[in-house]
Order: sequence, then structure tokens, then C-alpha cells
Amino acid sequence: MNPVTRQLDTTELEERVKRMYGEVALDPGHEFHFETGRALAERLGYPAHQLDAIPPGAIESFAGVGYFLDLATISPGDAVLDLGSGSGTDSFLAALDAGRAGRVVGVDMTEDQRAKAQRLAERHNFPQAEFRAGHIEDPPVDDGAFDCVISNGVINLSPDKPAVFAAAAHALRPGGRLALADIVSARQLPDGVTCDAALWAACIGGAMQRDTYRETIEAAGFTIEAWRENDAYRFVSDRATSATRKYGVTSISLLARPG
Ligand SMILES: C[S@@+](CC[C@H](N)C(=O)[O-])C[C@H]1O[C@@H](n2cnc3c(N)ncnc32)[C@H](O)[C@@H]1O
Repeated sequence: MNPVTRQLDTTELEERVKRMYGEVALDPGHEFHFETGRALAERLGYPAHQLDAIPPGAIESFAGVGYFLDLATISPGDAVLDLGSGSGTDSFLAALDAGRAGRVVGVDMTEDQRAKAQRLAERHNFPQAEFRAGHIEDPPVDDGAFDCVISNGVINLSPDKPAVFAAAAHALRPGGRLALADIVSARQLPDGVTCDAALWAACIGGAMQRDTYRETIEAAGFTIEAWRENDAYRFVSDRATSATRKYGVTSISLLARPG
């Protein structure tokens, strides 16, 4: 007798993620399972004076899970790829560091997020930032074209994390780096959580067990150089908070390099 195995419905997941983050772009004041906006960014460690220098419309829809740009050390002239750029907070901050001699490409599958970031780039004069529609598992970019790949709060949402880390490795030039913040868990989440597309879309269900997460990055050819816990990140709804407590779901930031 074949046991009935529960499986995540990835089509439903993508629809839910697009619906949820479309709302984050269009109606950022709405209450989600997670915090959003400037107060969150400041609590996570984003320097206020840097936030003052980017479009407020991006920050109101910020839905990241940790600060990691200190690890990314973006310099003038750098080419940066932001996987799951949302409304663009990290892309705009990276664009300030990369300057007009550099460039930032943000990729996101949710049209309202991508379109908002692109509008803000044009309105606030960030010609070095560009936002493309696409999936982070197969981003629409050339191989070997970037000095730094960044991502914030996104890879946990992907049902194919090995493909995301492989895509990051392909996008990087020799000597490039990957810097990100994401959600991981201390214990392997049970099927009841990992097969729940609603909990995935809320950045919990897709949290990979932390050792497996590290191994998945290393399997894509990276060496992890820095790893830190972001204690300041927390979920807000009762359901999310209880899953978080039970399985040790936390935010981390990391820096990794190919080789
Ligand atoms: C938690 S939000 C974070 C957005 C942004 N990085 C920030 O810090 O505000 C996750 C974003 O990732 C996008 N996303 C999730 N899964 C994706 C995928 N497989 N391919 C492309 N974008 C994805 C969503 O559309 C959403 O905009």
C-alpha cells in the first residue's frame, strides 16, 4: 500500500506569494503575518541616514528579515543582483553604494512590487537601478555579470532552494560574493507546516533547517564566511509566533563566496 504523502502545491504557493506581496506593494498599511516598513528596517539595523536617502515609497513596503548590507560591502562601480527585490529597499541602498558607475538589477515575480520599484527608480532618479520580472530560480540575467548577489527574506519562499543558490553562483563574476538575510529553522518543520502554502507565503513554512540550508549553499559551490542570527526579527500573528517558537524559526544574515 502506498502511503499518501502530503505535498506542497507550488502553483498555489506562487499565487499566494504574488497575492500577499502584491498587497505589500499596493497597501503597505495592511496587517500581515510579518512586520513591514521603516520601523522594522530601523529595528533590524538599517542606518536611519541611509534610509533617508532612498525613496520612502520603497521603505513603506519593506518586508525584509535582517540587515546584511554591511556584509555585502558594495563599492562604487559594482554590479549587484537583488533576488526578490520587492519594492526595492535593498536595491536602492545598493544603488547608492554602487553609484552611477555601477548598476543594480532587481528581479521579482510579483508585478506590483516590480512595477512600484521601477516607478520609484525613475521618479527618484536612480538610473543605475533596474527592475525585471522573473523568478529567482532562473533570473533573467547574464552569467558572470555581477560582483555581488543580494537577497532579503526571499529564498525561504522558494520551493527549489538549490536552484536559487545555483543561479546566484552562475550570476557572479569570479571573486564575487553572496550576501543575504533569510529565515531558517532550528528543527526540521513537519509536513503540516511545510505543506501549508499560507504559512510558506508568510515566510515560515519554507524555512529550511539551518544545517541543511548551509549544506545547500555549499553544494552550489560557496564557502560561508559569515553567519549571524538576527534576534530583532519577529513574526506577528499568533499562528506564526507559535510555529516560530515550536520549531526555532529565526532570521539569519550571511556572507558567502564561490570556491
Ligand atoms: C518577503 S518579500 C521581501 C522583498 C524585499 N526583498 C524586501 O526586503 O522588502 C519577498 C519577495 O520575494 C518575491 N518572491 C518570492 N518568491 C519568488 C520567486 N520564486 N521568484 C521571484 N520572486 C519571488 C515576492 O514577490 C516578494 O516581493
